[in-house]
Amino acid sequence: MFVGGEFYPDPRWVRAEPQLHTTGLYFLNGGRACLTVIAAALRARGVRRILLPSYLCPSIPKTLRACGLPTAFYRVRADLSLDLEDIARQQSRAQALYFINYFGFAHPPAVRAFMQDYQRSGGWVVEDNAQAGFLEPSVGDFVFNSLRKLCAHDGAYLHSRVDLAPLLASFPPVPNPRLPLIRAYRQGLYAYQVEHRGSHARLRALYRQAERLYERLPVIHGDAQERCEIEHLDWAGLRQARRSNYQTLLDLLNSIPQAVPVFPQLQADTLPLGLPVYLPRGLRDRVYEALGQAGVGAVIHWPPHARADPHTRAAAERMLTLPVDERARRKHMEYVALQLSRALAGV
Ligand SMILES: Cc1ncc(COP(=O)(O)O)c(C=O)c1O
Repeated sequence: MFVGGEFYPDPRWVRAEPQLHTTGLYFLNGGRACLTVIAAALRARGVRRILLPSYLCPSIPKTLRACGLPTAFYRVRADLSLDLEDIARQQSRAQALYFINYFGFAHPPAVRAFMQDYQRSGGWVVEDNAQAGFLEPSVGDFVFNSLRKLCAHDGAYLHSRVDLAPLLASFPPVPNPRLPLIRAYRQGLYAYQVEHRGSHARLRALYRQAERLYERLPVIHGDAQERCEIEHLDWAGLRQARRSNYQTLLDLLNSIPQAVPVFPQLQADTLPLGLPVYLPRGLRDRVYEALGQAGVGAVIHWPPHARADPHTRAAAERMLTLPVDERARRKHMEYVALQLSRALAGV
């Protein structure tokens, strides 16, 4: 049985009419393209440093620094809440503040109020919905997502309080040779997992090649076909299916006390990326391997970044994200729980 893992285009979720309202949003190639544009826009407005959360995808500081924007870090607690006191202490070091809606979960109203105060005092706020999709209401001056985290298509929507059209016009369109590769991979994955044909080794090679190109190519603008496919997905249905899987798995985890959910309650509007759990120290990597061998695509989000404080490092090293995506049903969630308890018992 396969559960989770990379996405393939699934005709069951395609609708004849567009399902998203995207007026006023810029459509770019991915999260990295959004970060590149945001860094340029911030620098043009006098921002000399940005404060980032200590728990984050390492591609964020890497991209921002490559775009000439220095970074500093504020603390995030083990429950992934933001340490507002630490931000306040460090605020004068930077002119912009970055926060992530982790795994699709919104921060509480006090965080929104804090961000609004910060904006009123002249700071810029970047809100990262790469793991959250279309989470409302947003507070950032720049808000972006990354759809390849949530479906089988490349693209990212960027909302901005400033007019980015002149800046975007300064990035020339460039060819995107990743797209034919990643499409072939995604079609091949459907054939492999659903129709049980094709070669896993060929798929792995295609994926690696496509990912290498994503890292290397300076593609900013999004692709029209990918955009059309994203906008015709049944996002309300996807949300419902993921939420139902999340709740099922959460209930099943009650009988596995060694796996402690990071978010023990599903919020009303969350489109969950996955279900992150903390595992006992030292066991995470072996559990990840064992689940992979059983066909369960868990994800390590993320290795600690080079300057991570000891608390963030310890948390990052214990966290594992279990799959709850829309392909799964109750029997898949039961399978994940069974394999997880076996992996924990066997290690
Ligand atoms: C929270 C977050 N922001 C931004 C990015 C960059 O997005 P992309 O992979 O679309 O470039 C990632 C990538 O994993 C991410 O997890």
